[in-house]
Amino acid sequence: MTAPSISSPRLMARLRRMGEIGALEGGGVCRLALSDADREGRDQFVAWLEALGLTVQIDVIGNIWGLRPGLEEGPPVMIGSHIDTVATGGLYDGTLGVMAGLELVEALNTAQIQTRHPIAVAAFTNEEGARFAPDMMGSGVHQGALDLAEMRATRATDGSAVLGDELDRIGYAGPVPAASMTPRAYLELHVEQGPVLEAEGVAIGAVTGVQGISWTEFTITGQSNHAGTTPMSMRRDAGVVAAEIAIAARRIAEDAGPPQVATVGVLELTPGLVNVVPAEARLTVDLRHTEEAQLAASEARLMAAAEAAAEAEGCALTARRLARFGPVTFDPALVDRIAAAAKARHLTVRRMPSGAGHDAQMFAPNCPAAMVFVPSAGGLSHNIHEHTDEADLVAGAQVLLDVVLNLAGAVA
Ligand code: GLV
Ligand code: MN
Ligand code: MN
Repeated sequence: MTAPSISSPRLMARLRRMGEIGALEGGGVCRLALSDADREGRDQFVAWLEALGLTVQIDVIGNIWGLRPGLEEGPPVMIGSHIDTVATGGLYDGTLGVMAGLELVEALNTAQIQTRHPIAVAAFTNEEGARFAPDMMGSGVHQGALDLAEMRATRATDGSAVLGDELDRIGYAGPVPAASMTPRAYLELHVEQGPVLEAEGVAIGAVTGVQGISWTEFTITGQSNHAGTTPMSMRRDAGVVAAEIAIAARRIAEDAGPPQVATVGVLELTPGLVNVVPAEARLTVDLRHTEEAQLAASEARLMAAAEAAAEAEGCALTARRLARFGPVTFDPALVDRIAAAAKARHLTVRRMPSGAGHDAQMFAPNCPAAMVFVPSAGGLSHNIHEHTDEADLVAGAQVLLDVVLNLAGAVA
């Protein structure tokens, strides 16, 4: 049996085609979960799965996967990621892992290689959590960590729609029940979305785990009033409280030191006018750390700071948890296999944790799971200029293919 190879032109053609769906002027894509562009991307993915002869499955939360049978029945080796994006997304975040799965199957088909165990290629619903929180929603429901009814009832972060209605509207609420299957193993290829691999000149990241993620939305209610006439001592300025929470988040990250990070990604003032003291403010805080105890300590500090700031300004404060995932450790034996596969291809490899959330983390408690990273130019991601060189994309897909073949058991 000759070892099957990833075809660079086929992989790049699919990446380019997916990049046309929801394309933004100036580059990048917007395929927010369950939008019309997401539907178009899903239709394209399903068409590709069918063209490769895979059996298409769609579950109740809209996860889609194609099954390539093995000589034996039983759970598949699953390759997955997502095709939804943030509103200002790049071409590779998520899409790479799904397109690599398709290319891997095409390489096996072309080389007429059968495997002992089935192989599945998946795209999970709403990994980003940008339109509907939490993130990793589809993979979370798939693995029984998130409740279907609760997720269907989720309102969009801009208040405009309910997830279940959107899923029905785009026609992707499928018949396969939640938590229907635990794969034999789960693998995901992804761009690093950070600067480490590029800075160190390393081709492949063998990902050891994912840091914990905590998302909180704060709503502050004060009183709107005239900007010119209201003495400073008499204000109940919701905007000032929001600003203090944002600064507190930054201080918490500075005091804790790396790898603690803290981000205020949404900050809205109402009514949002130049000469009106804000009556209401809404902001989100994203806290991440690799250690559960430190993440919990940072959350507690943030909450105390938010309460103190609201009280000092005479404002009311509500806090709503949007997402909470503990740190995850990937299967050490699978991480070793990835490192060994990279070395066998004469690629430099480094073990590293993931700073971003990924569908793989929802599988890790239930089956061997791990990830392959490839470099991100300038460490940019969630940015329309996200870029990875073609040679790096292909190298990552080849390592993925080699590991999958090893796990699924090639039969000549
Ligand atoms: C999800 O992709 C996240 O890391 O925010
Ligand atoms: Mn992603
Ligand atoms: Mn992302």
